[in-house]
Order: sequence, then structure tokens, then C-alpha cells
Amino acid sequence: MYCFLLRYVFLNSKGVTDVLCEACDQLGWAKPTKIQIEAIPLALQGRDIIGLAETGSGKTGAFALPILNALLETPQRLFALVLTPTRELAFQISEQFEALGSSIGVQSAVIVGGIDSMSQSLALAKKPHIVIATPGRLIDHLENTKGFNLRALKYLVMDEADRILNMDFETEVDKILKVIPRDRKTFLFSATMTKKVQKLQRAALKNPVKCAVSSKYQTVEKLQQYYLFIPSKFKDTYLVYILNELAGNSFMIFCSTCNNTQRTALLLRNLGFTAIPLHGQMSQSKRLGSLNKFKAKARSILLATDVASRGLDIPHVDVVVNFDIPTHSKDYIHRVGRTARAGRSGKAITFVTQYDVELFQRIEHLIGKKLPVFPTQDDEVMMLTERVTEAQRFARMELREHGEKKKRKREDAGDNDDTEGAIGVRNKVVGGKMKKRKGR
Ligand SMILES: Nc1ncnc2c1ncn2[C@@H]1O[C@H](COP(=O)(O)OP(=O)(O)OP(=O)(O)O)[C@@H](O)[C@H]1O
Ligand SMILES: [Mg+2]
Repeated sequence: MYCFLLRYVFLNSKGVTDVLCEACDQLGWAKPTKIQIEAIPLALQGRDIIGLAETGSGKTGAFALPILNALLETPQRLFALVLTPTRELAFQISEQFEALGSSIGVQSAVIVGGIDSMSQSLALAKKPHIVIATPGRLIDHLENTKGFNLRALKYLVMDEADRILNMDFETEVDKILKVIPRDRKTFLFSATMTKKVQKLQRAALKNPVKCAVSSKYQTVEKLQQYYLFIPSKFKDTYLVYILNELAGNSFMIFCSTCNNTQRTALLLRNLGFTAIPLHGQMSQSKRLGSLNKFKAKARSILLATDVASRGLDIPHVDVVVNFDIPTHSKDYIHRVGRTARAGRSGKAITFVTQYDVELFQRIEHLIGKKLPVFPTQDDEVMMLTERVTEAQRFARMELREHGEKKKRKREDAGDNDDTEGAIGVRNKVVGGKMKKRKGR
């Protein structure tokens, strides 16, 4: 089916090879998505691409399929590099490459921070076809791993390109661009594009085509978006109310800091919810552990900082709650895009307190619509106050205890499964500026 459609769509091009079409079929991809229809033929023609399409619309396939197709035509090691802003996203993209390329024996390596460098050096020594990396750790390997270089690279992808090209990654990206061939294909993809991406000198694109199948800051049609205007001091209570009201759903709840993410997770656990945190002050193994438990539906609530706002594809997420309003309006689009993916429906609820009005207005302006209020029964909410206050007290105590324990140990406890309680004060103290900027 996919085969047929792809050929039909790509009348003017060679089309994607049969084995790849079969892989699409096996993934249940009945027909190409809009961005795939637009971008794949151009990529097969050898063009550089700037791809803009809404969250959950299959951008990964739009860059992975043409790369795999080219790899089949001219097999080569260290063929493509995909840069992503977060570690979890790198793993996910690697899984997608492996799923699409398994029958042709594609090997990929994930090169991200927070993980043993030695095993990554070994993986690179085997010269995989595709490297999926966060910029910082890739630089480490380019500088320190003997025998590893990207001088023969044919494809560079920046997923979440606007984020990769913003100031946080400036030095790293510039360094990477210096050591890869200028004669390569470059693909930039994101659900949001900034002027920076439009200027693009930094990414050194060559006569790129823009494939834009959504407007610049569009949210998905099947996403119902609401806001809730409440006093700051009742945020926890309203959150508990919403979780009760929408019980049975899978939630992603976004907080602005690692500390608040951890605190809120503890609070909810004290109230009997199966909540689990994901943030930049957890060790990488715990981060992946949390994500996997949530993906496997062993936990129904994932509390996260913006480290989880971009790219993560967890189809069963029903509701996104912006517990703390995002400070960068663009993050709103990515956060709420964790639900209502690939044609599914979903809900997003944004908490707006007396301090957040301006930020909220900016978000409404960005997405070009006024959001309705999420209906609540305020008297029912207030009935929860006592229990929530009690749980807050416990959460604060636990947070303090864990903080002190961590300080004493100065080392991660290892595998005693305190993922959901660990706060990682050590990282907070030692991590310094870099950590704060990128660790989210
Ligand atoms: N042609 C297709 N048909 C059906 N499902 C598809 C197709 N292509 C991709 N998908 C699925 O759609 C989901 C979203 O894809 P993907 O993660 O690539 O979205 P995205 O556009 O990169 O979103 P984001 O902006 O959030 O990163 C995935 O589960 C993927 O397997
Ligand atoms: Mg994506």
C-alpha cells in the first residue's frame, strides 16, 4: 500500500525502494503524511530541505526514508549525522531508523551525554551508518576518540532545527560544521521556525527548498486547548482536581524547574497517583527509566521539564498540562504537541496564575487563537484543599530528606529504584551554568 502510494506520489522521481516501503507497511504507515509527500521526492532529487510541519506529523520519516534510500544506493559507513537537542529524542530517532532500516541491516549509534563515553567510542569504532547525537557529546568524540571523524559524511540532519541553531548550541554546532564536508546534503526539520532558521547561513545550506505544510506556529487540529485562570496558591489543588476529573487518561505535566518537577511528582505520589519525574538533574539511566515506565503505561503521569517538550513520540498521551506556563511561547507548541499525534485527538490545559497573564497572552497571540476556559467546579476543588495541604507537607519533607541524602552520598545510589524520589542536588550544586542551560 505504502509502496503504491509513494510511487504514485513520486511520479517524477525514482521513488523509495521496495524494502523501505515494506518497512513502512510493517509500521502500519498506510500512506505518506503531508510532509513526507512534500519532502521525500525533493530529498530524493538531492535537494537541501527546510521542513516545517506540525507536531506528530511524521517529520522523522520524512528525513529518515530518503537517507536510508540513498544509503541503499551507495552503501557507506558514517553516512549520516542527525543532531537533536535532547538525549531521549536521540534514542527515539535511532529506534525509528532501526525500525525502517532493520531489513537492510542499518546500524546506528546514539552519542549523547550522561552515558559512559567508552562504550560510545567502541560503537563509533564499528563505524555505524547513522550517528544520532546531541551536539556536546559528539564534539567530545570528534576531539578525543582516536580514528573517529565525519569527513566522509553525506547527510546532516538537524531535528528540532530552530533549537539546535539557537544560541545554546552555537559553539558546538559551529565546531561540528567545520569538520564535516561542505559537499553534503542538509535537512532541517521542526514544528516551529524562527528567523534564525530562515537565515540559515549557519547551517550552510545550499539552495534549499522550503517544505512548509503548516503555518509557522500552528497547533494540531484535533487538539482541544484550554486554560485555567487560578490563584497561584491553589495550583496543586486544581491539578489534583483535574487528574481526578480526567482519571483513566495518560498525562504529561510540564513544570518550569527540575525542583518543581520533583516536588510535584512527590506530591502526587503521596496522593496515590502513579506519577514519575523526568528532568535534567536525574542521572541518564533514571531519565530513561522514567520515560520507559511511562511509555509502557506502568505510570500514568509523567512530570517533566522542557527536556521532554520536543520531539518525543508517545502516542498514548491523552492530556498535556502546563502546570507552569512556558516562558518561551514556542515551547508551548512543542509541549502541547506531545498529545494529539498522528491524527489522534488530545487535550491541553494551561494553568494561568495572576503572574502569568502576559505570557499567556503572548502564547495566544503566537498560535493565533483565543483559548476557552477549562470548566471546573470550584466548590469541589476546594474540598480537596486539606488533603493536598497534607501531601504538600510530606512532599517538602521528602524533598529535603532526599536532598540531604544526596549531598552526603555525592554519588547516585545506583539501582535501588529511588528514581521517583531522587532530586539530584549534587548536580544542581556541581552542574554549573552549562547544565542549567541545556539540562532543563
Ligand atoms: N506515514 C505515516 N503514517 C502513519 N503514521 C506515521 C507515518 N509517518 C509517521 N508516522 C507516525 O507518526 C508519529 C509521529 O511521527 P514523528 O515523531 O516523526 O512526528 P514529528 O513530526 O517529528 O513530531 P514532533 O514535531 O513532535 O517532533 C510516530 O508515531 C510515527 O510512527
Ligand atoms: Mg520530530
